[in-house]
This record gives sequence, structure tokens and C-alpha cells, in this order.
Amino acid sequence: MKVTVFGIGYVGLVQAAVLAEVGHQVVCVDVDQSKVDNLEKGIIPIYEPGLTPLVKSNFDAGRVEFTTDAEAGVKHGDVIFIAVGTPPDEDGSADLKYVLAVAKTISEAMDQHKIVINKSTVPVGTADKVRAKITDVQESLGKSITFDVVSNPEFLKEGAAVNDCMRPDRIIIGTDSVGAEKKLRELYAPFNRNHDKIIVMDIRSAELTKYAANCMLATKISFMNEMANLAEVFGADIENVRLGIGSDPRIGYQFIYPGCGYGGSCFPKDVQALARSATEAGYTAKILESVEAVNYKQKEKLFEYISGHFNNDLKGKTAAIWGLSFKPNTDDMREASSRVLMEHLWEAGAKVQAYDPEAMEETQRIYGVRDDLSLTGTKEAALKGADFLVICTEWQAFRAPDFELLKQSLTEPLLFDGRNLFEPKLMQEYGLHYYAIGRGLSIKER
Ligand SMILES: NC(=O)c1ccc[n+]([C@@H]2O[C@H](COP(=O)([O-])OP(=O)(O)OC[C@H]3O[C@@H](n4cnc5c(N)ncnc54)[C@H](O)[C@@H]3O)[C@@H](O)[C@H]2O)c1
Repeated sequence: MKVTVFGIGYVGLVQAAVLAEVGHQVVCVDVDQSKVDNLEKGIIPIYEPGLTPLVKSNFDAGRVEFTTDAEAGVKHGDVIFIAVGTPPDEDGSADLKYVLAVAKTISEAMDQHKIVINKSTVPVGTADKVRAKITDVQESLGKSITFDVVSNPEFLKEGAAVNDCMRPDRIIIGTDSVGAEKKLRELYAPFNRNHDKIIVMDIRSAELTKYAANCMLATKISFMNEMANLAEVFGADIENVRLGIGSDPRIGYQFIYPGCGYGGSCFPKDVQALARSATEAGYTAKILESVEAVNYKQKEKLFEYISGHFNNDLKGKTAAIWGLSFKPNTDDMREASSRVLMEHLWEAGAKVQAYDPEAMEETQRIYGVRDDLSLTGTKEAALKGADFLVICTEWQAFRAPDFELLKQSLTEPLLFDGRNLFEPKLMQEYGLHYYAIGRGLSIKER
């Protein structure tokens, strides 16, 4: 099938690569010329496990191409994905300017029936806006070509995106068109062999399903962080509580890890956007507002511990930070907890020596060169001469450190763990002063 994907980001590029892998003929369009040039040279703009060989082999085989030529892109695809960003507007609502710009481009260039698929995460009602935009532009050009608009939200997880797209849990198709449904079933047939994962529904329900999924996951995290804060208040250990409640199959162990807050390009903006859409519709989404408020505070947690430990005097201190990306296996720094921490540390006059397996280039891009930030080649180098260590991201490589070396390298044996990777008792045996999230034991021992 001839497919066009607008937006070569985390979603668009992965989607394009897996569709090409199963034999579809894919053209990817982006407005970023340097991204397109790099991809043509085999330079992949993001880190995602398994993505580089997949893109390269399909590019070499001629099944995927990259261009900034939007008109050619529109002409190519029978189905056209919109996978551009929907960042938060100033008031938290999803900014649809990129989505609607693509809709306009599609309308201008289309010369025959097209199926336009919204893969970006968009507020309920966006398909109607895309449809209206295409119709209006066509009318202004004196055209009247039929088209369908479908909602097909993406559920991939960064860090496991290729696998998630190759083996999706579900494929949501929101459509009112029998023809579009048939075409999408054919498009996704290679990913739907084990059992039927396709769930067809009306467009608005499909749009809301995506937000509901992310908001449910964010709610689990904020709920657990609230329990961790209560564990601190009451002198309990959240790790015991986690195991205690996770054993209930109605709750389960997944997504109930307390920590220093959720980040990334999706949860923060999607929780905000749904709450904002609710307000606009005259409904106060109290749970969503609380989920966001709890998370905002949770991202301050590590700095509070650190600042409290040093009696609010961090001038001249050096923090070693392990983990900068918002979660492991990605280089994505959007809304990462590490950013909140670093910015607070800098404001308080401290320096940062940081290491991340993949996100250092991105950190440099965001913060540039500055005296109070040094990015080190190894996690051990980040420790040298630092006053304390903070773990912000639970990369595998941080799970079994050399604690003796850690003690020798730091000026104080002091560890702030934003991801609860270690046992407080063990840390005590190693002679480390250990702060974790909601672990009563570590609180008592302070
Ligand atoms: N990142 C994720 O894990 C994830 C998961 C599921 C859904 N989503 C949703 O998918 C959408 C895309 O997210 P992302 O993380 O891939 O974004 P991204 O920022 O990584 O990529 C977006 C791309 O769109 C391009 N673009 C902007 N305007 C364009 C235009 N007019 N024509 C062509 N290209 C254009 C940008 O240059 C950029 O390369 C968002 O709505 C997001 O919420 C993201």
C-alpha cells in the first residue's frame, strides 16, 4: 500500500519504518530539512532501540523515503498519516497548528480520494476540525475531492517503540466510513495475525481513548507518589506497600513505582490537555487536575531532600547526576525530572556533573555550554570530586554500582535516589547516607 507519513518524530519515524518493513511503500514528509538530509545519510535523529537498522535497511531497499516535498508526499499516499507534534499551548490545551497546517497542505495537493489518519494525540473533536479545514481549502480552490478522516491514535512507549509498533496491544480505528475501515484493516493486517487487535469505534471515542489511556497511567504514578509521601509522613516504607497492593490482581504490579515524578512528551501534556478540554466543555476534571498537581510537586522532591540535607546552602556544592532522560532507553528530555532538579541546583549556586547513556547530546542542545554543567563520558567520571550523587533515571547501568568506588569518589557518602533502586538497609551497611522516595526506613535512619 502507498503510505505517506507527515512528521518524522518518535511516532512518525517508527511507524514509517515498521510499515515499510512489512512491505508498504512509505514516503515521510517533514518541514525540517536537516532531519531529512541526515536520514538520507543514515543518521537517525532519535535514539530508539532497534530503530537505526530498521530505518537503514528499508531505506536501502527503497521502501521508505524522506522528503520536505509535501506536495509529492500527498500525491504518493492513498493513506496519509498526520504524526506531527501537538505541544501544549500557553493554557495547557493541545496546540493544533501543526496538525491543521498538514490538513491544509493535504487539501491543497490532493488530486484523488485520500484517507487522512490522525495519529497525533489530539483533543476530541479534532477530526471534525481536520475535515472542516480540508473542505474549506478545497472550496477555496474550487475542488471537490472525496476524503475520509480517521482517528488512529498511537500507543507506543518510547524506549520500546519499535517492538510496540511491530506487536501492538491494540489498534484503535475511529471511523464512520466502511471504506476507510476496510483499508486500515488491510494496512494493519501484518500486525494483526496472532489475534484480532483491531477495535473499531466512532471517531470521538477513539480520540478520547488515547487521552484516557495516558491519563490512567499518569494517575497510577501520581497516586503512588502520593502514597509514598504519606509513607514518609507516617514512617512506613512505600516499597512494602507497593508489594502489598501489587499482589492484588485488580491492582497489579505495573506502573505503581513511586519516584521523582513523570515526564516525557506525553503524560504531562496529555493530562493537561484533557483537563483543559474538560474545562472548556464546562466540566472540572478534578482527578486530572490533582494528578498534575501531585506530579508537579513530586518533581521538586529530590531538590527538597538535597536542600534540606545541606540546610538550604548549596553554594559551591557539586552534584553528580546519573540519568537525564525522562525514562530509560530514550534520549528524550522533554519534561524530564532531571531538568527541574538541575535548574533548581543551578539557581541555588551548585554545579552539576552528569552522565546519561543516551541523552547527553540532547542535554547539551537544551542548555548549551555553561560553567556549572559538565557532561562526563562515564558514570564513574561524574562522581569524581562531587559532593553527592542523585539518580534521576533508572537506566539498567545504574542498578548495581560499585558502592565502594562511589564512596571514595564523593566528598560525602551521600546518595539521593529518585527511583528507589536500592535497599536502605544495604546502603547503611555500605556506609552511605541514603535518601529514597517514601522509604520510611531511610527517613528513620537520617
Ligand atoms: N513520543 C511518544 O512517545 C508518543 C506516543 C504516542 C503518541 N504521541 C503523539 O504523537 C504526536 C507526535 O509526537 P512525537 O513525539 O513523534 O513528536 P516529535 O516532536 O518527535 O516529531 C514531530 C515532527 O513533526 C514535524 N512537523 C511539524 N510540522 C510539520 C508539518 N507541517 N509537516 C511535516 N512535518 C512537520 C516536526 O519537524 C517533527 O519532526 C504527538 O501528538 C504526540 O502526543 C507521541
